[in-house]
Amino acid sequence: YEIYLNGMTGAVPRLPTDLTRLEELTERRLGPGPVGYVAGSAGDGSTARANRAALDRRRIVPRMLRDVHERDLAVDVLGRRLPAPLALAPVGVLSIMHPDAEPAAARAAAAQGVPYVLSSASSTPMEQVAEAMGDGERWFQLYWPKDREVARSFLGRAKAAGYSALFVTLDTPLLSWRPRDLDQAYLPFLHGVGTANYFSDPAFRAGLAKPVHEDPNAAVMHFVGMFSDPAKSWPDLAFLRENWDGPIVLKGILHPDDARLAADAGMDGVVVSNHGGRQVAGSVAAADALPRVVEAVGDRLTVLFDSGVRTGDDVFKALALGARAVLLGRPYVYGLALDGQAGVEHVIRCLLAELDLTLALSGHASPTTPGLGDLVEDPA
Ligand code: FNR
Repeated sequence: YEIYLNGMTGAVPRLPTDLTRLEELTERRLGPGPVGYVAGSAGDGSTARANRAALDRRRIVPRMLRDVHERDLAVDVLGRRLPAPLALAPVGVLSIMHPDAEPAAARAAAAQGVPYVLSSASSTPMEQVAEAMGDGERWFQLYWPKDREVARSFLGRAKAAGYSALFVTLDTPLLSWRPRDLDQAYLPFLHGVGTANYFSDPAFRAGLAKPVHEDPNAAVMHFVGMFSDPAKSWPDLAFLRENWDGPIVLKGILHPDDARLAADAGMDGVVVSNHGGRQVAGSVAAADALPRVVEAVGDRLTVLFDSGVRTGDDVFKALALGARAVLLGRPYVYGLALDGQAGVEHVIRCLLAELDLTLALSGHASPTTPGLGDLVEDPA
């Protein structure tokens, strides 16, 4: 209605309401380098395409005459009541996209009542992001460092700064083969890491021979060598349980047996995700993995979803496939690139307005209505 009312005075939205157009606009504004970092995927992009195809293939079957005049998008996630089934996914080094970087995205999330998941590869120290959010709900994403002291330090800092849940990303023990990053030698990325969350960490700095400003290249190499650890295995999760007393969510789960292992290890949730198609080329689409994971652990864990969500009906479908809520990745990053905090708020509001309308027009007053799961596949 706001858009219609503004239209009466001749004002149209500053950014497109079709969020799939934002990537192209961002590329025109920032050029192919920075956009390559965001839009790029593993290998030839087959997993990113599969993510989209798996959502597209499933179709909603709308129901009629079900009194949807009063609606509520709220859901319970990890012991909190959220106003909508949406959070912003952790995305590293947002200074590549906009000088206001993570604090702007976090402020937008807080203003819209949506949780913000801060990447450990943030270009802003986590305390500054927390301050920008006020009492907005914030969760911290951990790339599990090789160095235990750095891991412990991150967890302690996150707790002290009011991050209420820990998201541990498991699908990135190594960075994958990403041609759009490789072809530019990761330059925009390494540039952005110059101000990263790591560099503000006392335990990280203790591992450097010289202070960051005296030898920034050595600091970047130290980051590259320790940001993740391919030697980790399931028993190592005990370390996280010992050092984090809030909810722990494993991000990057695709196999139902891994979801069962997560539940057995006392975790609180999983994010069914293939990192937006950025890790394993040829991987199962996240939306195809989702119902199997829900079937395996839906009664034991909070199951969240990301990878490929672009529209309100994508959110609807993920919920219908059993996710409690979804994380949104690239679209909000383009919103940030194009209009800072206001651009991220635009993206959140468009997505939630579209979800609300899709629910209503399909005969559902809430994301938790029974019968939401009546999707059909491949109607052709
Ligand atoms: C990511 N993602 C990510 N995940 C994570 O756990 N830590 C991180 O630092 C990052 N960084 C990152 C950078 C960029 C540029 C992108 C696009 C993605 C993955 C992210 O959290 C999420 O899983 C995907 O983005 C979801 O897919 P869509 O919504 O982008 O299709």
